Amino acid sequence: MNVMDGPEAIPEVVVPSVDVAPESQPVGWRHRHLLDVDGLTAADLDLVMRTADAMLEVLTRPITKVPALRGRNVTILFYEASTRTRVSFEVAAKNLSADVVNIAAATSSVTKGESLVDTVRTVEALGAQMLVIRHAVSGAPYLAAEIFGGSVLNGGDGWHAHPTQALLDLYTMRSRLGTGGADLGVAGKKIVILGDVLHSRVARSNIWSLTAAGADLWLCGPATLLRGFEAWAGRGAAAGRRFNVTSDVAAALRDADVVMALRIQRERMASGLLPSMREYAARYGLTAERLRTAHPGALVMHPGPMNEGVEIAADVAAGTQSVITDQVTNGVAIRMALLYLLAGVSHA
Ligand code: CP
Repeated sequence: MNVMDGPEAIPEVVVPSVDVAPESQPVGWRHRHLLDVDGLTAADLDLVMRTADAMLEVLTRPITKVPALRGRNVTILFYEASTRTRVSFEVAAKNLSADVVNIAAATSSVTKGESLVDTVRTVEALGAQMLVIRHAVSGAPYLAAEIFGGSVLNGGDGWHAHPTQALLDLYTMRSRLGTGGADLGVAGKKIVILGDVLHSRVARSNIWSLTAAGADLWLCGPATLLRGFEAWAGRGAAAGRRFNVTSDVAAALRDADVVMALRIQRERMASGLLPSMREYAARYGLTAERLRTAHPGALVMHPGPMNEGVEIAADVAAGTQSVITDQVTNGVAIRMALLYLLAGVSHA
């Protein structure tokens, strides 16, 4: 599938038995690395979702562990702060019985000037077979994938991509909106991503997966935080994808099925993009009043970490429509599914 091809029909997928090793059965997954979601077909997305269903079942068992990745080394190398992604990858790998090594760049030889290439070669020499990497520089996981002998999973790179977040977001929407059938649950649904789209790797990855799954996607925020996305939306629309870009928050939220608020990423922001946080919150913050204009029961999502009172009101974040904690829990099942699927791919 080309990234701007329209949504496609989903062929039947065979869900692997997650209680046995992935290499002992035909898994139907062909991607050695997970660097973004732009190269995934609708069938790939469906396979990830169905494998995550199987992993979620494992998480309901008295012992939430299967032997599938016994003897495999999963190394988690993070150059940026993280709570959800890092911890859920660790929990996911341990639930699959992998050996887990955690490296925080701040306490590694990176502080002595070691390059990314040297670090990746070093962790491979120390036994890493699957490498989960987060880096502040867009493209860093692609460089790692060029030199690493195993599989690389992108845990977030710069402004560019956060594929596991997009997949857990799709999974959360599918769980709440889907029919349980072969669709991905979001076809024709109005999904709004509201906030600092410009600096968001989560938004960029979600654009690929949600439009591939047939959603009616709306990006909304101040014009300064939407720069460049109109052109992308135009190319998507020409290819049959439903993708709108607007600064009109009322139009975006009207009858929405899902509203995903994004954090204002002050650490990535040049001065002059916003007058003040107070004004941003007043004009674009997701409040209970604004949410009432969405579809009754619309899902409220946020990838975290949140700045309550800025992009989302505290009562909305903790309200009955919020599925923010589901997103976190689903992150474990999705990351178990991805580790499992990638582990089944031959590198020969
Ligand atoms: N959503 C997300 O990536 O959160 P963390 O930065 O806590 O991993």
